[in-house]
Amino acid sequence: MAIISSKKQPPEPNKKPKEQQESVKASSDQDKILQPEAAFDEQGKQEESIRPQRFADYIGQKDLKDVLEIAIKAAKSRGEVLDHLLLYGPPGLGKTTMAMILASEMGVNYKITSAPALERPRDIVGLLVNLKPGDIIFIDEIHRLSRMTEEILYPAMEDYRLDITIGKGTSARIRSLPLAKFTLVGATTRVGALTSPLRDRFGLVQKLRFYEVEELSQIVLRSSQLLQTNVTPDGATEIARRSRGTPRIANRLLKRVRDFAEVKKLAEVTESVAAEALELFQVDPCGLDWTDRKMLSVIIEQFNGGPVGLETIAAATGEDPQTIEEVYEPYLMQIGYLSRTPRGRIATKAAYKHMNFTPPNEQLSLL
Ligand SMILES: Nc1ncnc2c1ncn2[C@@H]1O[C@H](COP(=O)(O)OP(=O)(O)O)[C@@H](O)[C@H]1O
Ligand SMILES: [Mg+2]
Repeated sequence: MAIISSKKQPPEPNKKPKEQQESVKASSDQDKILQPEAAFDEQGKQEESIRPQRFADYIGQKDLKDVLEIAIKAAKSRGEVLDHLLLYGPPGLGKTTMAMILASEMGVNYKITSAPALERPRDIVGLLVNLKPGDIIFIDEIHRLSRMTEEILYPAMEDYRLDITIGKGTSARIRSLPLAKFTLVGATTRVGALTSPLRDRFGLVQKLRFYEVEELSQIVLRSSQLLQTNVTPDGATEIARRSRGTPRIANRLLKRVRDFAEVKKLAEVTESVAAEALELFQVDPCGLDWTDRKMLSVIIEQFNGGPVGLETIAAATGEDPQTIEEVYEPYLMQIGYLSRTPRGRIATKAAYKHMNFTPPNEQLSLL
């Protein structure tokens, strides 16, 4: 989808409002739809209302927050822009949210886009030339950048310079244009798929981790207040346990549970209400859904516990291999149900137990 969204932070007192207006106008000249990420649909709007806006509301990810808080303080005290930052980790862990928080903490404007929207060189050039000093560009799925776009980014990231080739063949010349100093925040679910020249140009490379139940439960309680739903602490913990370590899933399950409680006319979401609702939506006590369980049962029942190749698992579950690799496997590995070997995926003893199977004896040595 070719979408760029542009959002402004409240004007700083020392900035001229006119300058800010220009910045908005300049970017709306592009032939892209410019709207906040939120405005896509109803669900998007709700996600936006729950998304934390400040560091203080960003729960968990202590390592990441510690590193960034120092980087922000240092940049501010030197009056410099923040170093380029690469955030990686499975979907829904808070990469986009962190990029927005950074912009607000630094008091700068940000533009959100994603690699597939930057296919042609002019897309990235348009973004870069319209930047104001300190601005943050957020590029989602940054491992998917086209080669030409990437090559434009190298000097832009390194020297805040745009190199444009004019003419063709032997008469081709490179002209350089200075750019405003900016910060690139890249996000990816597949850090290994980034080219090394691109990865090396990020001063900060940070991994986002799955969240603890305790942290997710705080997130659920916070979101329930924003959604004006009455959730008890035990109810929040029950939702958190089933959220696969992922805030986006926690918020999604909270909404399902809220619907359930509303329809059943229940005044509050307790542990048992949450459990009953989520059983109904086929989310098991470990947060595994139909696809997770199908993956494990295919490996266990059809392949005697594995190893099984990714393609085979994908075919058996009807998911595409990339989704299995980026969305499903990381969590199954995190909770120790799946291990990855060069020959394929293996279901662990814990997975057998969870799925109510007895691990075959000859398999035990492998697990
Ligand atoms: N640390 C956090 N604290 C509270 N809520 C969070 C946190 N991280 C993510 N969320 C919630 O999860 C949703 C998804 O996060 P997002 O930043 O879009 O994930 P990603 O970009 O990594 O896929 C956000 O809308 C936000 O409400
Ligand atoms: Mg995101």
